[in-house]
Formats: sequence, C-alpha cells, structure tokens
Amino acid sequence: MSDSTPVLVLTGERTVERNDGSTVTHPVMTWHPQWRPVLTAFAACSPPATTTRLVDWYVTADGTPPIEVFDWNSLPGDVADGMRAMGASLWHVPVIPEGGFAHLTGMTQLLGRHTSAALTALGEALIEASGGRQTTAMKVPIGANAGLPDGSFPVHVDDWPARNLLNVFTKPAPDKQGATLVLPLPDYERLAVAAFGPAQAAEMMRRIRREVPWDLLHYEQSFGWHENDEWDLIRATTEASMVIVYGEGEGYLVDDSTVLHGRTVVVERGDRLNRLHRLTFDNEQSYLLRAAMGGEYL
Ligand SMILES: [Fe+2]
Repeated sequence: MSDSTPVLVLTGERTVERNDGSTVTHPVMTWHPQWRPVLTAFAACSPPATTTRLVDWYVTADGTPPIEVFDWNSLPGDVADGMRAMGASLWHVPVIPEGGFAHLTGMTQLLGRHTSAALTALGEALIEASGGRQTTAMKVPIGANAGLPDGSFPVHVDDWPARNLLNVFTKPAPDKQGATLVLPLPDYERLAVAAFGPAQAAEMMRRIRREVPWDLLHYEQSFGWHENDEWDLIRATTEASMVIVYGEGEGYLVDDSTVLHGRTVVVERGDRLNRLHRLTFDNEQSYLLRAAMGGEYL
C-alpha cells in the first residue's frame, strides 16, 4: 500500500425510502482492501483502550469536550508505521463522495473491540501528517447527555472545526432505537427559511456551509433552537429526513457542511458511550479552504 491509496473505497449503493415515498440512493463505502492488513495487524496487537484528555484550544463556558488519545507505544514499529501511513492517506486523499454522503459497511469486522482505538490512532496520525495542526482531527466520545431528554437528537451538523465526520456503529441500540436521521442541506434550508425567515436562515446557512471562520459560538447560534422549538421545526425536519437503521459495523461518512444528521429516540443504556464511534477530520483541501478564511482555530 501507499499513502496515495484512499482509506475508503466504494463497494455498492444503498437506497433509502423517505416519508413522502421518494427514494434516495447513496454510495456505500468500506475500508480499502489495501489497508486491511494494517487494520488486522493493529487489532492483533490488542492495543489498550483509548484514554481521554481535555482539549486546550476548545474552551467553552461549560467546559471543554474530552478527546480520545491513543498510546502509540503499545504498537510494534511496523504496525505504527502502517497506521501513520493510513492517517497520511486520510489527510492527502479525499474520501467524501460527490453529494457529501456515503453509507459505511464492514467497518468493525477486522477491528472488533479495537475499532475505537483504531479511529483514534487514525485521527492522531492525520494530525501528524497535517504538520501537527491540532484542529484537523478529533475523536470525541458521543456525549451521554447530548440531545433531548428522550435521547433523540434533532438534525444538526456537528460543526467542529474539521469538516468531515466518520460515524461507525459498534453497538447500535436494539429495536431500531437511535436510528440515524439524514437531511440534505437544501431541504433543511427550505424549512429553516419557513421557520426563521430568510435573513436569519441565511446567516445560519453561512455558518453551516463554512463560509465564515469557525468559532466556539457557531453550534449554539445555529442549533440553540433545539432547546425550545416554538417553530415546530424539530417535527418538520425529522419528518423530512431519511431514517436509517444501521447495524454493527455500519455507519456513515458525511461532509458536515452539506448534509445534516440526527437520531431518533434512544433509551439510556449502560453502554451508550460505545453505541457509536465518531472521527471528525479534515483533509488537506478542506483545511486549506478554512485556513484561507483565517480565524483563531487553525
Ligand atoms: Fe452529531
């Protein structure tokens, strides 16, 4: 393998029916065959689980999110080199398909309980390949208390500095709980204009489309309305969304500026933190786009 081989490759397509009866077909992607020996070797080392630390550049009034950290000393040199090459590929070779959304499949079969550690290591290797730019990748655990009291999460974009999200289900909740909601941005824009009016919606869209530099207030400014939805927009956007029940090893890859995501109701469970693993990452192109805008968080 070489670091010009993409980390993910097309393996088919999947068609999802929306509530209005229309269907939407997106590509399905999985680990590129050339990287599979690296992932197999990684899992065979039985690396330790990740630990977490706070992020020094991301400081909010209610604390900073923890990010996961991988212990590279646990890997033999050749396996570490393989993971570093894979992270360099994720930095250099774009993997998001046209349209900004792909389903994922077969993401945990090689990695098993080491999936989380592997995604963390990939993110750290990507940061190294980026020249040490700390905002280019984050693996942030899904917050146990995030979302609405019933465990649902209305559609949103995560709006981290890095643009792309890779979400892999390791222990999806039973009985179709916590199914994934997916809504393309043009559909959201139409509903947001109806709810908030064109001027306010346009401002939200500029943040979501990343036409202004990122800052700590962006998410709250765009999605603070979740807490008190007097516009009935949660119902409208949920109804307009695709609903996808992903199994273990499935998930999705999304350009966070193009397609919104959320989840249906999920009841609190002990292993909820292990339900889904998420790597947020830039590639060189998406980083250069935001670097060109300037701002504090580069
Ligand atoms: Fe999210």
